[in-house]
Amino acid sequence: MTETEPVAFPQDRTCPYHPATAYDPLRAARPLTRITLYDGRPAWLVTGHALARDLLADQRLSTDRTHPDFPAPTERFTAVKNRRVALLGVDDPEHRTQRRMMVPSFTLRRAAELRPQIQRIVDGLLDAMIEQGPPAELVNAFALPVPSMVICALLGVPYADHDFFEGQSRRLLRGPTAVDTQHARDQLDAYFEELIDSKQKQPEPGEGVLDELVHHQLREGVLTRQEVISFATILLVAGHETTANMISLGTFTLLQHPERLAELRGDPELLPGAVEELMRMLSIADGLLRRATEDIEAGGTTIRAGDGVVFSTSVINRDQDVYADPDALDWHRPARHHVAFGFGIHQCLGQNLARAELEIALRTLFDRLPTLRLAAPADEIPFKPGDTIQGMLELPVTW
Ligand code: HEM
Repeated sequence: MTETEPVAFPQDRTCPYHPATAYDPLRAARPLTRITLYDGRPAWLVTGHALARDLLADQRLSTDRTHPDFPAPTERFTAVKNRRVALLGVDDPEHRTQRRMMVPSFTLRRAAELRPQIQRIVDGLLDAMIEQGPPAELVNAFALPVPSMVICALLGVPYADHDFFEGQSRRLLRGPTAVDTQHARDQLDAYFEELIDSKQKQPEPGEGVLDELVHHQLREGVLTRQEVISFATILLVAGHETTANMISLGTFTLLQHPERLAELRGDPELLPGAVEELMRMLSIADGLLRRATEDIEAGGTTIRAGDGVVFSTSVINRDQDVYADPDALDWHRPARHHVAFGFGIHQCLGQNLARAELEIALRTLFDRLPTLRLAAPADEIPFKPGDTIQGMLELPVTW
């Protein structure tokens, strides 16, 4: 471990597709360094790629957010600490049971089966955008509705309610105060209570994952009502907010790298690798949280039981021991081992779906609008602050 002054974490990015420049000293101090959280509490920040994969697979690090020692990156996080979060907030062996219930709906095969439906959603949104424009605001016209419609169809949530749940998810992830976050959580709970009621009244289950949970796991007593709500919340929120940010920030990044975009257009076979490289480069979920349950020898020091451990995926994914010229976009590098989807037992459940959505959305967008460009100076386009999932707040485009 290299000794540096603890840096405050998280911090805003200066460029939306590069790690915050305030983390530059941390990038030099790999693989483990000290940070200070918003409440002044010290924590460890993992910045080295090999150590990150070791520790993300280490059962001595817990994701149970209800524990008083669990590190809080923002004040609003404390408002929801008393709530159990399905999957992401549960350790083994309980996590294994929960994950097994969900895996069949998120396999590579299931994602492949969904591709025609994703393509129809993407085509329909682009038809509407082209009819009404140019110009357009790409976040609301395209980046957000694509994953939102897809996850609604998969879960069996009515897309007609999207204004409501997108608004509450936004407040949950970056509401201005802890009270606001708590309120958003209550609103989502009440919404799912009603949705579960209405599904219970249907004689036959619909096709969504929630229908399955209500008509089988809930009815058979395998899950409680509160657990079904918790599954519904994480799947709905993680299923649209993340991918939406990858589409908006991915598009912005491609438009800022015209040579890479031209290369990609010239050879569509590069697309799957390009999606991985964008995932690595953008690392939109930047700050995975854990608490040590035992002393752990790591990076030449001891992480003590009770210590908070944070993983900066943006810094880890630019570890120059693994990625040559890590700040450059390169479609030909083997980027697959990035940790932008996490690693270990909590590795993203929706990653196959996210990859399918990103490939289809980006390919179709640039095929249909070959002259797509920003409709405002790049440095005037607002992006999200560092304490939430990274992405564009707005993306004005024209063609
Ligand atoms: C490009 C988009 C996405 C990114 C960058 C992303 C990122 C992540 C990351 C980093 C984790 C691990 C968190 C940790 O270890 O602390 C995670 C977990 C998770 N993601 Fe995603 N995700 C994306 C899309 C999705 C989608 C489409 C879904 C669909 C439902 C989803 C559902 C989940 C769930 C349920 C977990 C928790 C898994 C567990 O604990 O077993 N994600 N995601």
